[in-house]
Amino acid sequence: MHITMIGAGYVGLVSGACFADFGHDVICVDNNPAKIEALNKGEIPIYEPGLSELVLKNVREGRLSFTTNLGEAVQETNAAFIAVGTPSRRGDGHADLSYVYAAANELAQNLKGYTVIVDKSTVPVGTGDEVEKIIRETNPDADFDVASNPEFLREGAAISDFKRPDRIVIGVETERAADVMREIYRPLYLNQAPILMTSRRTAELTKYAANAFLATKITFINEMADLCEKVGANVQDVARGIGLDNRIGSKFLHAGPGYGGSCFPKDTLALIKTAQEYEAPSRIVEAVVEVNESRKSAMADKIIAACGGSVKGKTIALLGLTFKPNTDDMRDAPSIVIAQRLQQAGATIKAYDPEGVEQAKQVLTNIDYAPDPYSCLEGADAVAIITEWDAFRALDLKRVKTLLKSPTLIDLRNIYRPDEMQRQGFHYVSVGRSN
Ligand code: NAD
Ligand code: UGA
Repeated sequence: MHITMIGAGYVGLVSGACFADFGHDVICVDNNPAKIEALNKGEIPIYEPGLSELVLKNVREGRLSFTTNLGEAVQETNAAFIAVGTPSRRGDGHADLSYVYAAANELAQNLKGYTVIVDKSTVPVGTGDEVEKIIRETNPDADFDVASNPEFLREGAAISDFKRPDRIVIGVETERAADVMREIYRPLYLNQAPILMTSRRTAELTKYAANAFLATKITFINEMADLCEKVGANVQDVARGIGLDNRIGSKFLHAGPGYGGSCFPKDTLALIKTAQEYEAPSRIVEAVVEVNESRKSAMADKIIAACGGSVKGKTIALLGLTFKPNTDDMRDAPSIVIAQRLQQAGATIKAYDPEGVEQAKQVLTNIDYAPDPYSCLEGADAVAIITEWDAFRALDLKRVKTLLKSPTLIDLRNIYRPDEMQRQGFHYVSVGRSN
């Protein structure tokens, strides 16, 4: 199959490289010339484990290439995937579909032969209808179908999520488009990954429902963590105790500083908007968004409380800035609100992140960025672990103690054990566990 991937970001680049690795011919198109220039030089513009090797291998073997020229890329294509960003629209929380529609417009002018236009971006219900309308109006002779194929990969585990998905959801309106999509996913189908063929609108909504449900699960356990702290219970045991029930499931029950990232925050807001628009309000998701928003600043307050009620004139070291480990993505990272609130309370911030410092510098200013975890701690009054990078799981605690002015460690990801930390002489504060 010949595949065009429009948008070479986290989703487009991973999907393109994985499709190529399945044996398809893939051209990734991006309208950012610097990105394409870098990719053509073998430089991968994002940090995603295993991606560099996968891209280079498939380029070398002639199945994967990069261009800014959409017209050329779609000449022989069987399917053109739209994998551009759909951020929150400023002001109202709706998904900003301008990038999707721009891609549809450009596609319309360049289609040759039967092509399935596949929406891989996360888009509100009805976007497929709109894409179809745009293409039909721009190019009445075009021979095409529009399908929805939402992506469920997670950053940091993107390649294995793509290659070994729990399921593939495909929303199509014609058998002809279904055949093309089946052929594209045949390698996974042979691996027995369940493929759900649905209507286009159902596929579009399924993506939002999945993300909103996961965000709800996290928010639920975060509230349980708060309650655990009040009643002297342990949230990790509660999570295990409920998660072993197959109806609940053990994943996404890690209490922490609130969910962040490029997707849950924007997708929950967009779902709320759609639900309001169709007069079927999603009150649970509305509450989730509100609770999660307030949680980030509550985490800054937790750090302040651990420092004796004030951080004025104190230096706080933050370990981990990205919204989760194994990514360089800072979009909606809880660290942003936490750092800014600590600064407002008069603290000086030192910070270290294994991969996200360049991105962090774009959003967090007046921060002393350290080159490694230990120099980050030097002379700090307290350290807070915000993101659970592996590098922070086995810190040399004796060294940590000697570097800090006072041995205060706030662990917002529960990666250390309270009893052990107390034995080591730390003033240790974690989430939802009685110390
Ligand atoms: P991204 O910002 O990393 O990448 C988008 C890319 O599209 C950019 O490189 C941009 O230059 C390019 N682009 C924009 N308009 C273009 C156009 N007209 N022609 C060519 N290129 C264009 O975004 P992302 O994180 O990959 O997300 C893409 C979509 O996938 C979003 O809808 C997102 O919600 C969804 N999604 C993301 C993830 C994730 O983990 N990041 C997972 C599942 C779904
Ligand atoms: C999430 C979904 O997991 C993917 O299935 C989906 O495709 C993607 O959004 C998307 O639509 O873009 P991602 O944002 O990459 O993936 O990362 P997650 O692992 O889901 O983490 C999201 C946030 O929730 C992070 O801030 C993470 O720290 C937090 N989280 C996650 C918790 O606080 N507790 C948990 O138990 C799990």
